[in-house]
Amino acid sequence: MKTNKAKVAVIGLGNIGKVVASNLVKGNREVIVASQKLEDAKANATNLGSLAMATDVKTAIKEADIVVMSVWFSTIQELFKQYATELQDKIVIDPSNPIAPDGKGGFKKIIGADESAGQILKGLLPKGAILVKALGSLGAASLANEAFQNPIKVLFYASDDTSVNNTVEELIKDNGYEPVNIGGIDQSIRMEVFGELHEFGALGKAITKSELKQTV
Ligand SMILES: NC(=O)c1ccc[n+]([C@@H]2O[C@H](COP(=O)([O-])OP(=O)(O)OC[C@H]3O[C@@H](n4cnc5c(N)ncnc54)[C@H](OP(=O)(O)O)[C@@H]3O)[C@@H](O)[C@H]2O)c1
Repeated sequence: MKTNKAKVAVIGLGNIGKVVASNLVKGNREVIVASQKLEDAKANATNLGSLAMATDVKTAIKEADIVVMSVWFSTIQELFKQYATELQDKIVIDPSNPIAPDGKGGFKKIIGADESAGQILKGLLPKGAILVKALGSLGAASLANEAFQNPIKVLFYASDDTSVNNTVEELIKDNGYEPVNIGGIDQSIRMEVFGELHEFGALGKAITKSELKQTV
């Protein structure tokens, strides 16, 4: 199928990556999937059907316009170094939450209380790449279950480069959500875990735009 839409690659096929890839296919969007192991990507693409294509991480980044980094915060930093050349001119989507198990069954933040993964990653971004904080403000279960609802639920995004807004909004719509821009990367902390716009922060659940107006 030929499309004029930006080409999306989902890198990392765990909880979030699988849901993003599956939402995109439900939204009738082609998706390239890649992960640490090529056989995982191939199995995932087979499950998703003809709109999905599996490849290795390097090829996926090269082929895509939008690269969804659905891997852990520390892995994103490694991939920035490893694929600095391939990531030039790409829209890089960062869904990461900078957390680790706290040993008591919960999670703790692994960066300063006032720091965000978005801002740290912006400082490490390969030259020419554009960072967008998005697709991480809901837990994976909600991201799957609340997609394509009527009334539609919102997903937030933040970027310092407004030239990509239309492309990012199309990506969020094709994931089954209404996009809401919250400003620049300095706003990321609000939509990361424990933040006012995160499911596991003040927000508590997926909400509609009219609920958002009443809440925030
Ligand atoms: N889980 C959630 O509810 C949730 C919600 C919001 C945001 N997030 C954020 O989303 C990101 C992913 O979380 P997750 O829960 O989906 O993690 P996950 O289930 O552990 O999945 C991570 C995926 O990344 C792959 N991976 C690891 N190293 C890689 C590499 N070097 N190159 C390519 N792929 C690699 C893993 O492959 P292997 O299995 O082979 O190691 C796995 O498929 C994190 O930054 C997290 O903070 C998660």
